[in-house]
Amino acid sequence: MHHFTMKNGSLYAEGVSVKELAREYGTPLYVYSTATLTRHFQAFDSAFDALDHLTCFSVKANSNLSVLRLLADLGAGMDIVSGGELYRALMAGVPGERIVYSGVGKKHAEIAMALKAGILMFNVESMQELARINEVALAMGKVARVSFRINPDVDPKTHPYISTGMKKNKFGLSIDTALDAYAKARDLPGIEPIGMDCHIGSQLTSIDPFLEALDKLLVFHDKLKAMQLNIRCLDLGGGLGIPYNEEDPPHPKEFGAALTKAIDGLPLKVVLEPGRVIVGNAGILVTEVLYTKQTSTKTFNIVDAAMNDLIRPSLYGSFHRIEEVEPKGRAAHDVDVVGPICESGDFLAKDRQLPEVRQGELLAVYSAGAYGFTMSSNYNSRPRAAEILVDGDKAIVARRRETYESLVANEI
Ligand code: LLP
Repeated sequence: MHHFTMKNGSLYAEGVSVKELAREYGTPLYVYSTATLTRHFQAFDSAFDALDHLTCFSVKANSNLSVLRLLADLGAGMDIVSGGELYRALMAGVPGERIVYSGVGKKHAEIAMALKAGILMFNVESMQELARINEVALAMGKVARVSFRINPDVDPKTHPYISTGMKKNKFGLSIDTALDAYAKARDLPGIEPIGMDCHIGSQLTSIDPFLEALDKLLVFHDKLKAMQLNIRCLDLGGGLGIPYNEEDPPHPKEFGAALTKAIDGLPLKVVLEPGRVIVGNAGILVTEVLYTKQTSTKTFNIVDAAMNDLIRPSLYGSFHRIEEVEPKGRAAHDVDVVGPICESGDFLAKDRQLPEVRQGELLAVYSAGAYGFTMSSNYNSRPRAAEILVDGDKAIVARRRETYESLVANEI
C-alpha cells in the first residue's frame, strides 16, 4: 500500500501533482511519500509489539537525512555499515543506544567513532575484527558491546548477489566456530558479548528461511547458556521482501506472529534491521522521455534517468513497474526503456509492454525508494538527481540536484 495515486488522469504523490514537481524541480527526480514511510514503519514495528524489540532501519536502503529524521521521530533505531552512515544517523537525531553496526570491514576510526557515540552493539564478523574492537575500546577506556554475526547456512532463495547467509558468502562466522568465538570474547577486557546476530539475505518472499535461521540460532543460544554466557539481544537482520511486480511477500504481521511464537518466554530483546520493506514502495523515480527510436528489431524509449540513477535493473535484472504520469490511453507495444549512458547495460526495462509515449512526456518508475538514490553514482559525469519528500499537499527538497560545480568540487 502506498500513496502514489491517479487523480483526474494525473499521478499524485499524496496531495501533490508529480507533473508539477517535475516542472518545478526537473527530472530525473526521486519523490518519497511521508504517509507511506510512516505507514510502513508503523506496520512493521507494531508487528513485533508482543516482544521486547527495537526496529533499526537499515540506512543503506535510503540514507537521505529527511527520511532518517522522519523514521527517527517515529522511534526507529538505525542499522549502519560505515562511519558515513553513523554520521547521518547521529545527525538525524538517533540516540547511540539505538544504533547497531554491521559489516565485514570496519576501520579503526569508524570503530572509535561508534564507541564514542555509545552504540548498542557491534555485529562482529571476524576474529580479527573482534581483536581490533577490543584494542580500540581499551585505548579509549571503554567496553564495547558486541554480538557475533552468525552465518546459519540457510538459502534465502533470492538473487545470489543479495544472499548473505550461506557458507560461500563472506559474511559472519560459521555456526560451528561461533561458540569458540564467544568463549574468546568473554575473556577480552574491552569486550562485552551481549547478542547474537544474523542477516541471511534481502528481498525474501517467504518467512520460512527466517524461521530456519532462527531455529539454528535458538539451538545455539542453548549452548551459550550452558557455557554461562547470558546474552540479552537477538538481532535477526533485515530482508523482508516487497511487491515489485507480482511477488506476494508475507505481511510483517505474519513474521511478527511467527517470531513471537518461537521466542516467547526467552529473555531476549529482538533487534530487526528492515530496509526495503520500509522505503521501497515509498519512493518513485520520475523521468522524462527524451526520444523514441525505432530500429529494425526494437523500439527504444530513451529517458533522462539512467543506470547511474537507478542501477537495480542493470545490476540484478530487477523489475521496476513503469507507468505514464499522465496516461494517454495509446496502444501498448514492446519497448526497452533506456537511459543516456554509454553502456548497453543501461536500461530501466527490457522487452516491456508499455503504451506508446511521446517526447517530453513523463514516466514514473515505481518501487524506487530502496537502493535507488543510495546506489546512484556520477557515471558519465551525470549530476545526481534531486530528492523530494512530500507530506500531504506540501513538498520539500530533501536533497538538491547536484550541479556541474558539485561534480568537480573535490578535484584539483
Ligand atoms: N542488515 C544487514 C546486515 C544488511 O546487509 C542488509 C542489506 C539489511 C539489514 C537490510 O536488508 P533489507 O531489509 O533492505 O532487505 N542493493 C540490493 C540489496 C542489498 C542488501 C544488502 N544488505 C538491492 O537493491 O536489492
